[in-house]
Amino acid sequence: MYRKVYLKTWGCQMNHYDSNKILNLLKINNNLIVDNYKDSDLIILNTCSIRKKSENKVFNFIEKLRSFKKTNSNLIICVCGCLSTHLKDKIFLRNNLVDIICGPQSIHKLNKLIYKFIKYKKKIIYIKSSKIDKNYIYNKDFDNNNIKLSTYVTIMEGCNKFCSYCVVPYTRGKEISRSPEKIIDEICYLSNNNIREINLLGQNVNAYSGTFDDGNLCSFSSLLNIISKIDKIKRIRFTTSNPYNFNNDIINCYKNIKKIVSYLHLPVQSGSNKILKLMRRRYNIELYKELINKILYIRPNMIFSTDFIVGFPGEKEKDFLLTLDLINELKFDHSYIFIYSPRPGTESFYMKDNIDLIEKKRRFKEIKLLIDNNIIYWNKKMLNNNYKILVEGYSKKDSKFLFGRTENNRKVYFIGNKNLLGKLINVNITDISNKNYLYGNL
Ligand code: 5AD
Ligand code: SF4
Repeated sequence: MYRKVYLKTWGCQMNHYDSNKILNLLKINNNLIVDNYKDSDLIILNTCSIRKKSENKVFNFIEKLRSFKKTNSNLIICVCGCLSTHLKDKIFLRNNLVDIICGPQSIHKLNKLIYKFIKYKKKIIYIKSSKIDKNYIYNKDFDNNNIKLSTYVTIMEGCNKFCSYCVVPYTRGKEISRSPEKIIDEICYLSNNNIREINLLGQNVNAYSGTFDDGNLCSFSSLLNIISKIDKIKRIRFTTSNPYNFNNDIINCYKNIKKIVSYLHLPVQSGSNKILKLMRRRYNIELYKELINKILYIRPNMIFSTDFIVGFPGEKEKDFLLTLDLINELKFDHSYIFIYSPRPGTESFYMKDNIDLIEKKRRFKEIKLLIDNNIIYWNKKMLNNNYKILVEGYSKKDSKFLFGRTENNRKVYFIGNKNLLGKLINVNITDISNKNYLYGNL
């Protein structure tokens, strides 16, 4: 089988990570990857359905393929990712263009599904979520310009929390953890291929509960401890954590494992206890702050980023003001803000979506303004201080500048020798005039 493949990805890091796996899989089978769908005869869409907007983007794109499909009878269109589980019937019915639907946990079966479709010319739906076998494919580097030092590794997938607004438990299914041996094997492989920073990935990483080959259980904190022993891995990140599962063992890892970065993404969603309850988040603001303070007690230089949903049903001005207060108090850094989007099948879909879009947009903008100020606040704190960066590559504009990233995800440019590539070095921050990247000296 030899095809010209165009792959398009929407959504979260896990989808991008999965897409990389799909590319690896297709390359193994001698398919050619093309950049323009008009040059392809196999189109793979790795989709997202977290908000209505993400869903619309996918359906619009599929519709755009109609005329191309008419003139290319050989063309195969395949939909993977979250939309495939959530809206499989709608995908087939509304567009009548899609040939194969493949669930997010089944991408390792893609070659077989494509082969089967070519042979029998019958539409296929393949969605299974009992295991995450797809991870036997290890991601390799496709970026030829700079050495790749940092990468994601999925440790678990799915979610059992059923927050009232969220479609993830329905699309990715229940929480499934990979075996610790498989994760370690992948990380060792990556560390022998230049990788120095690992970002452990999962919808709820701190709910990780893997099983060793001998049947013993492995918690998230145990996994962190094991990974920290891999010599070539210099930094450990993880995303996304749920405040609900963030137990003391995990908090203590900040004391015992220096390789864990002093930066944590901890979605709060709202500053109002009333709204958190309606969202079924299983914590209140007091508990959230207690958690932050416990971590800060161990690591005073910790910085936090978060997710917010604005305009959740019933969110009054006073609830919104509580969110603004929380941002001012905890000084959240770079954070994601989402306008509430009712998703079919979720609990909040049946609550009255009673805040109009103009008001939702105003709240969005107000949060954005505070977060932007916080980003500058943290940049200012960095000025004239020393930070460790992992040196990743050259500046495209001026090759005498190298760049690297700090633990708090700041890109820092500095003048240096290329033998520093791949190293963890100290720079002194000298220029913060641009919010999005900084300059420093060795
Ligand atoms: N509407 C808006 N934002 C949502 N998120 C999840 N579901 C919705 C929804 N229905 C946001 C949450 C979550 C992030 C991944 O996406 O903030 O943390
Ligand atoms: Fe969705 Fe809540 Fe699970 Fe996060 S914890 S994936 S928001 S249901």
